[in-house]
Amino acid sequence: MNIDLTGKTALVTGASRGIGEAIARRLAETGAHVLCAARSKARVDEIAGEITAAGFRATGVELDITAANVRERIKTLIEQQPIDILVNNAGITEDDLFIRMKPDAWTNVLRTNLDSAFNITQEVVKKMIRARWGRVINISSVVGLMGNVGQTNYAASKAALIGFTKALALEIGSRNVTVNAVAPGFISTTMTDQMSAEARQALEGRIALRRLGTTDDVAWCVVFLASEQAAYITGTVLNVSGGLYT
Ligand SMILES: NC(=O)c1ccc[n+]([C@@H]2O[C@H](COP(=O)([O-])OP(=O)(O)OC[C@H]3O[C@@H](n4cnc5c(N)ncnc54)[C@H](OP(=O)(O)O)[C@@H]3O)[C@@H](O)[C@H]2O)c1
Repeated sequence: MNIDLTGKTALVTGASRGIGEAIARRLAETGAHVLCAARSKARVDEIAGEITAAGFRATGVELDITAANVRERIKTLIEQQPIDILVNNAGITEDDLFIRMKPDAWTNVLRTNLDSAFNITQEVVKKMIRARWGRVINISSVVGLMGNVGQTNYAASKAALIGFTKALALEIGSRNVTVNAVAPGFISTTMTDQMSAEARQALEGRIALRRLGTTDDVAWCVVFLASEQAAYITGTVLNVSGGLYT
């Protein structure tokens, strides 16, 4: 399978590290011009610089997806170049047991993980619908499917992203715009690197493939969903959890 995204522009939110950075790099290597967006401008510029130096196309974009002017920022970006592939990846956790959870922790997580997808996607899909081609890929989580202790806010936001994905897929499928979700399990990032050896071993024991995922395990699935080869897939949730949840 030869995936070629040449001529497509992709916007990846949360591209300054972790899963988003890997998605940005792999999309660029497959030919897309990638707009690497995050709040850390220096870091996305550095990543875009490395991608460009390797002979591919990328631009760093400073973007706070919770900012009041996020829609204006997206409109300006689209005026410069239409976005063909949108990856709503940026997300946060603010864990606490439900009984202790502060309203701010609830609101912050829902605002970042869910409201931003509403605001950004609504602006981006208008042009995709007119162009009769588009890919929206929402990074959810297996936690949105199976729940997790201490993460009622996060689970609610990620489950809602799946509902959002399925409903929007039905609305805009006739315009040749596909909308899918990817639900990663536990992925090796700076967060999971801080786990104790025992905690990591216990976690791996629950995973059928007996290892944590890599950021590339997720990124290649996103590349596939963005490709022409995935043209007949919409409204689906691709579970990338190594069999933690089936
Ligand atoms: N890691 C896992 O095991 C795992 C599992 C399932 C699902 N996921 C999901 O996968 C996605 C990426 O996770 P990750 O582990 O790679 O996270 P991460 O390493 O913490 O990176 C999060 C990214 O989101 C960006 N971000 C956070 N708040 C933002 C805001 N207000 N505006 C713009 N960008 C913002 C951060 O950039 P700045 O700080 O520079 O803005 C960063 O690039 C998230 O949606 C997460 O829920 C992760």
